[in-house]
Amino acid sequence: MPLSKAELHLHIEGTLEPELAFELAARNGVTLPYADTEALREAYRFQDLQSFLNLYYELMAVLRTEQDFADLADAYLARAAAQGVRHAEIFFDPQAHAARGIGMGTVVEGLWRALGRSEERHGVSTRLILCFLRDESAASALETLEAARPYLDRITGIGLDSAEVGHPPAKFREVFERAAALGLRRVAHAGEEGPPQYITEALDVLGVERVDHGLRCMEDPALVGRLVRERVPLTLCPLSNVRLRAVDTLADHPLPAMLEAGLLCTVNSDDPAYFGGYAGDTFDAVHRVLGLSEERLRELARNSFLASFLEDDEERRRR
Ligand code: ADE
Ligand code: ZN
Repeated sequence: MPLSKAELHLHIEGTLEPELAFELAARNGVTLPYADTEALREAYRFQDLQSFLNLYYELMAVLRTEQDFADLADAYLARAAAQGVRHAEIFFDPQAHAARGIGMGTVVEGLWRALGRSEERHGVSTRLILCFLRDESAASALETLEAARPYLDRITGIGLDSAEVGHPPAKFREVFERAAALGLRRVAHAGEEGPPQYITEALDVLGVERVDHGLRCMEDPALVGRLVRERVPLTLCPLSNVRLRAVDTLADHPLPAMLEAGLLCTVNSDDPAYFGGYAGDTFDAVHRVLGLSEERLRELARNSFLASFLEDDEERRRR
């Protein structure tokens, strides 16, 4: 039996497996610039975050209807359940779909078809987190929040993702303030490729409750001290960090040192269709390659529920 865990850093568009991408392409009459799934997998060699994002956004072209989003989410939830995930807080990127003329309603209603029956079908509770693309303008983020207003009963929080360097958190102060006033929870990617300063800014300017990645905090001992003191959860994604070359190899990943330092770490799969593993695979890999003990793995699983947006009673029940 795999350890029960919560997945807190998962982009639903990053769960699009090549087989499903071709199936949806055929269904929607979209031509992909790859001969077959093997040729597509060959393209999964990334130099950095941007080289991944280029392919990630390109493949989204196959997602067009509510049913496409439902099928995508249902396939993820089945896989996650098989790997011990009992709760999933799922990111989605509405601006990337709006750019292709796919509205907020299609995305949210489609995802909800799968999320709404996930507990009964897969035994996985879910939350939805709307991410703003930080390489788009602050005005576009504000428009996106407005477009989400009719769907806020289904959206738990907001996040910030896409190309990090050159797009500091402070650019999104206003939209995060408005979201907070609407009662939305707040997270942001910071310190994946960007400097430790972006982590501080995400905390101080955006008021985030968790930091997605946060890897580069290790360059700033004072910041590590603060994150430990304030019990700020970090949603680390070790397999992603290897594939996007934030670290050279998994054996070089600072996760053991981060746990040693007392940071509230969780491990997650980010974009599992692209990075070679879902939540359980990630736990296995850090156990095998980084030599984390069974006790450390249990700590990571416990942290995942503690850092989740589940209410206290619900959190205990799912653990
Ligand atoms: N969008 C999807 N995956 C991402 C990542 N790892 N960092 C930033 N934006 C993303
Ligand atoms: Zn991410």
